[in-house]
Amino acid sequence: MSAVLPVLATRFSAAAVAAFGSPYGELDPELRAATKPEFGHYQSNLALRIANTLGRPPREVAVRLVDALSLDDLCDLQIAGPGFINLTLLPSTLAAAVNQPVSFNPTGKRVVVDYSQPNVAKQMHVGHLRSTVIGDALCNVLAYLGYDVVRQNHVGDWGTQYGMMIEQLLADGLTAESLDLEGLQLLYERSRKHFDADGNFADLSRARVVLLQSGDPETLASWRRMVEVSLDDFEQVYALLGSGLRRADVVGESAYNDDLQNVVDELDAAGLVTESDGALCAFLPGFTGRDGTPLPVIIRKSDGGFLYSTTDLAAIRHRVNTLHADRIVYVVDHRQSLHFEQIFALARMAGWLPPTTTAEHVGFGTVLAANGKPFKTRDGGTIKLVALLDEAVARADSLLEGREGIDRGATARAVGIGAVKYADLSSDRGNDYVFDLDRMVSMTGNTGPYLQYAHARLTRLLTKAGMSAGDVTVLQEPAEERLALILSGFADVVVQVAETLQPHRLCTYLYDVATALSVFYEQCPVLTSEGETRASRIALCTATRKVLQDGLGLLGIEAPDAM
Ligand code: ARG
Repeated sequence: MSAVLPVLATRFSAAAVAAFGSPYGELDPELRAATKPEFGHYQSNLALRIANTLGRPPREVAVRLVDALSLDDLCDLQIAGPGFINLTLLPSTLAAAVNQPVSFNPTGKRVVVDYSQPNVAKQMHVGHLRSTVIGDALCNVLAYLGYDVVRQNHVGDWGTQYGMMIEQLLADGLTAESLDLEGLQLLYERSRKHFDADGNFADLSRARVVLLQSGDPETLASWRRMVEVSLDDFEQVYALLGSGLRRADVVGESAYNDDLQNVVDELDAAGLVTESDGALCAFLPGFTGRDGTPLPVIIRKSDGGFLYSTTDLAAIRHRVNTLHADRIVYVVDHRQSLHFEQIFALARMAGWLPPTTTAEHVGFGTVLAANGKPFKTRDGGTIKLVALLDEAVARADSLLEGREGIDRGATARAVGIGAVKYADLSSDRGNDYVFDLDRMVSMTGNTGPYLQYAHARLTRLLTKAGMSAGDVTVLQEPAEERLALILSGFADVVVQVAETLQPHRLCTYLYDVATALSVFYEQCPVLTSEGETRASRIALCTATRKVLQDGLGLLGIEAPDAM
């Protein structure tokens, strides 16, 4: 599927320059899918916008623009309404777009994607599920478009709680070796209570944090063991999810410990630090609370401890200086958006984030329970992610009841996990969504299993047809033309996802493909048609299957050949 739209857009810009002068080449022709079939395939309002600046009647401008456009080889043009230009692609253009494989050249740009980021000694929760699923999809899309993708799992593995936990280990006469994740969690809870109730224990804990931060070997060894237990557990979740995250991608908060004082010193030297009640703060222009009071970034507490923000500043330095990022993407829930705005602004002021590197916060909403409240266990605890995923796989398994000739276990896993991922990715990530397994695993509607089924059904049909690898040559029926038109938009959608970092656009697109496919099945016989029509329809089915497979693959969702 080569992209048609960029070619059309280039020709529009050239025509605007020829007819009205070079400044008009800068205007985006805004080619949009036509809203009604009688408007053709695409529509542009460029003439209206040029007319606006020129102060000329729009239809007159449209006529001049169309005269200057050379698109006869690709499409028919028509001026409509107040001065819209409607485009109808020639069948040969559509066929060529479907027949040519999509490929993108390396961009030579590096993108660092910070995602998943669970916290040590805690279970991963549904928020981390969102970050992992969205982050994986974005990494896939960016890599497909030729970016050099570097994953960074910024796990929460540092901070005062480790002082408490290590002291609690000693108080309980336990060793870190004896703990599993459950044990770690309980240890954390015990140490918290102990800390709040016993001033002496609190002092010991604080001293222990100092030992940890200064690299005392025994303290470090206990800490490392706790981190290992957690990372092993995270890895099991990643394996179940089929995530692209590896152990080598873990660069946790602890990794920046040695740079935190430098961060503070350099900000201070740059005159960006103010002392406020003993704490060191950076005040940024434009950041004020509702009542107009300034909102500082605290970079060092009055007790000398560093903060989440200090670590994130050090992480930016690492990503720019060592990883040479051209683009940094943070997949973190939207409650942290102020934090990232402040960190980005401060890093720019300090000169750590150069104008050539973009930094983007990919925020997302909350996962809700059926009652519309955040998804929690009955006693307010976080729901174990693995239990949820297992449940999804079990539901998928019962969906496959009685199917023959499939690997039931592997297929149930692909369908169950795919269903959860698709549900997460298919709504606008900024919105909250309800975790509803019944809807997720449904075979109808805009769901993962529906798309997987469309793919499996195509595979079956093509196996019967002998999977010939011909070209699409006949696009006479409206249903086959419509399907080809949608397929020709694949590359454009993937580009849009990379620009907007909104995976739901790809989901909506794939759902459109599957919908157009089912209309095509109804109106255009494939196996029972004859001659060139049959060969062309088989080629169209092959192209459709490839788009579904590639598109689901980019979303991190498997496409089993049978289900
Ligand atoms: N561990 C944090 C949490 O669970 C998210 C970290 C996000 N990444 C970052 N660079 N701050 O809330």
